[in-house]
Amino acid sequence: MVGFGNHFASEAIAGALPIGRNSPQRTPFGLYAEQLSGTAFTAPRTENKRSWLYRLRPTASHSPFTVYENGGLLRSAPFDEEPASPNRLRWDPLPLPDRRVDFVDGLVSYGGNGDVAMGAGIGIHLYAATQSMVDRVFQNADGEMLIVPQSGNLRVVTEFGVMTVAPLSIALVPRGVRFRVELPEGPARGYVCENYGAPFRLPDLGPIGSNGLANPRDFETPAAAFEDRDVPTQIIQKFMGGLFETTIDHSPFDVVAWHGNLAPCRYALRRFNTINTVSFDHPDPSIFTVLTSPSETPGTANCDFVIFPPRWMVAEDTFRPPWFHRNVMSEFMGLIEGSYDAKAGGFAPGGASLHNCMSGHGPDRASYETATAASLVPHRIEGSMAFMFESRNVIRPTRFAAQSPLCQEDYDDCWADFQKAQLP
Ligand SMILES: [Fe+2]
Repeated sequence: MVGFGNHFASEAIAGALPIGRNSPQRTPFGLYAEQLSGTAFTAPRTENKRSWLYRLRPTASHSPFTVYENGGLLRSAPFDEEPASPNRLRWDPLPLPDRRVDFVDGLVSYGGNGDVAMGAGIGIHLYAATQSMVDRVFQNADGEMLIVPQSGNLRVVTEFGVMTVAPLSIALVPRGVRFRVELPEGPARGYVCENYGAPFRLPDLGPIGSNGLANPRDFETPAAAFEDRDVPTQIIQKFMGGLFETTIDHSPFDVVAWHGNLAPCRYALRRFNTINTVSFDHPDPSIFTVLTSPSETPGTANCDFVIFPPRWMVAEDTFRPPWFHRNVMSEFMGLIEGSYDAKAGGFAPGGASLHNCMSGHGPDRASYETATAASLVPHRIEGSMAFMFESRNVIRPTRFAAQSPLCQEDYDDCWADFQKAQLP
């Protein structure tokens, strides 16, 4: 079903969805009616997100959660393992594990900001998984999950239905929605932005008008699909930064019908309608914003998800790669495929970089020399997809991120040998 944040209605069996009311005295087939609230009841209508789920058993039927110890590298805000550092960081690609690891156990946190307890900030993770989740599901009470596959397809089974999410697509799973990640074609790697703050939404378009950037119609939400499987199923829940587990005697993907505007969705990044200059000067990269999680300060995002897709460069008398920059916002970058136009080397698919508040960054020397010497004919950047999680608050790296051998000790060298400008 297409559309971003639409009010959808879907039933896997005809007649399962009550008509004209949410919670009738007797539901069709005796299904249990359950509301899932993604915003406070009294949130303004434009912000309000909730869905009604009609399921074989109520979610409330479970025994107490106990601590889940996986010994993994998933961390949560506040990120205080390492002292804050103004240094620029870049990482080689995260290797796939040489053992059987699923999506949940394969999450590796690189950093983040804010505080889960305050519902503000983000956690930034990579995942590297070699096997499907089997008879276990994940739910995250701390935030929604923006999943950015880099290699390997994901089959994301949720309470609302099933989505296949390939590299160059993203999935957005709302806070609290249970899901299971399967790897239909083998190992998979990618990035996750765990958003503790206001849910991601489409950015305002201002003078761009009523179309452009990510168009609402290109977001796809699964139709209702359910499992009627009475097998022991482990529920792993992330709550206040910790992981907890309990086991129920059936698949929780037993929602036969649902309606509402809180639901998972996917989006193909190649459908992004890229807007850029047709005269001169590279616009601010906010022109590439796919989704934004606003903060209380207008225009200052808790997180922007920004992509750098294939596009034509036609600017006249312009330095075409991203310019040198210092930013009050903090920038975490990843690369899905190809190469990024500001870095000739060292930034590989599956790798990452972090440029925090007021850290100088920009093209490396080789990219600068090439760009300043190029003849400015129309040029197409092809086969590349970089992205950025950009946040109002400093992104604190985890101990893994700061101390991992993946962290490139020589990153600063790419800016080391610029020649001094020659005055007349
Ligand atoms: Fe920047």
